[in-house]
Amino acid sequence: MTELKNDRFLRALERKPVDVTPVWMMRQAGRYLPEYRATRAQAGDFMAVCTNPELACEVTLQPLRRYPLDAAILFSDILTIPDAMGLGLYFETGEGPRFRKPVQDAAAVEALEVIKPEADLPYVMDAVKTIRRELNGSVPLIGFSGSPWTLATYMVEGGSSKDFRRAKTMAFNEPEVMHMLLSKLADSVTAYLNAQIEAGAQAVQIFDTWGGALSDRAYQEFSLNYMRQIVNGLIREREGRKVPVILFTKNGGQWLESMADTGCDALGLDWTTNIGDARSRVGGQVALQGNMDPTMLYASPKRIRQEIETILSSYGHGDGHIFNLGHGITPEVDPVNAGVFIESVHELSEKYHSA
Ligand code: CP3
Repeated sequence: MTELKNDRFLRALERKPVDVTPVWMMRQAGRYLPEYRATRAQAGDFMAVCTNPELACEVTLQPLRRYPLDAAILFSDILTIPDAMGLGLYFETGEGPRFRKPVQDAAAVEALEVIKPEADLPYVMDAVKTIRRELNGSVPLIGFSGSPWTLATYMVEGGSSKDFRRAKTMAFNEPEVMHMLLSKLADSVTAYLNAQIEAGAQAVQIFDTWGGALSDRAYQEFSLNYMRQIVNGLIREREGRKVPVILFTKNGGQWLESMADTGCDALGLDWTTNIGDARSRVGGQVALQGNMDPTMLYASPKRIRQEIETILSSYGHGDGHIFNLGHGITPEVDPVNAGVFIESVHELSEKYHSA
């Protein structure tokens, strides 16, 4: 295996000294880049990019050609698992994801089978292998999955939702049915992430985009329990190096201690949490990733730099911080501002490190 030329992302996840704070952006390959829109148009649609390893590799690398990012993230989607379970994923333009066959009763949940990633999602593992080869050791590759709860919301609702009426009603009225669904998803996610790691992913992130829509007790019962189960089942070392696990619950600021107790290596923070407070709460246990409001990228370069400085000084001197946005970059952002963000993190963070 080629030696990693830039390993500051992996070092920061292990809370080891780095020269500057590493940075990447959630959704860094996406519609804000004209070259992404061109590749997608050429392929036909979004899923055609995901299912073609060469094109998935191409769009993964596009932001790295523009910016000095410290990590690449596999180009795919969290909804590949439900699609592989037979729900029939499709994207309605401007409407977000949809399923032809949502899972809305006990019989439908019972009929679901845990996925076999190499057989059911070969295009994902081929994309991981292709990207690793093309990265050629420049930066590490992040693999990812949705959390069981987040996947369950899309599967039960049949798509995106504002209030999660159907998914929550299932959890409240028929908790045993929801638990059966979450348990099959946890087994699927564990196998899926392990297959990505075996194919070459050097760190993995679990996106719990909708855990923060649950009450405190419901979060522990329906989301965190299953993420803990996944963390416990993951391959944690490969190619002689630790494979760090990042948990990201959007709006999960009140649960940082219990998230850190799952045994993960890092927590992703959205912008509503103060990163300095988060560090005093769990910084002795895990690294922290985040957390600039993605909407800040619409502000002026001067204001973006000021915000980066505020976040860096809030985290303070020392290691264990990976800079990121608090959620995905949005399609209307000017790519120039994304560049200001990435470059300024490196420039402004040097004084916080002594390595
Ligand atoms: O970060 C990256 O660059 C890797 C790629 C990535 C995508 N989706 C590509 C994508 C990742 C990590 C995801 C995760 C994902 N997908 C999540 C969790 C993260 C989050 O944002 O909270 C969720 C909830 C999904 C489900 C999903 N996929 C939705 C709701 C949508 C439509 C939303 C939208 O922005 O239109 C997608 C489509 C999607 N996934 C796009 C991309 C680049 C846009 C598709 C397009 O090109 O039109």
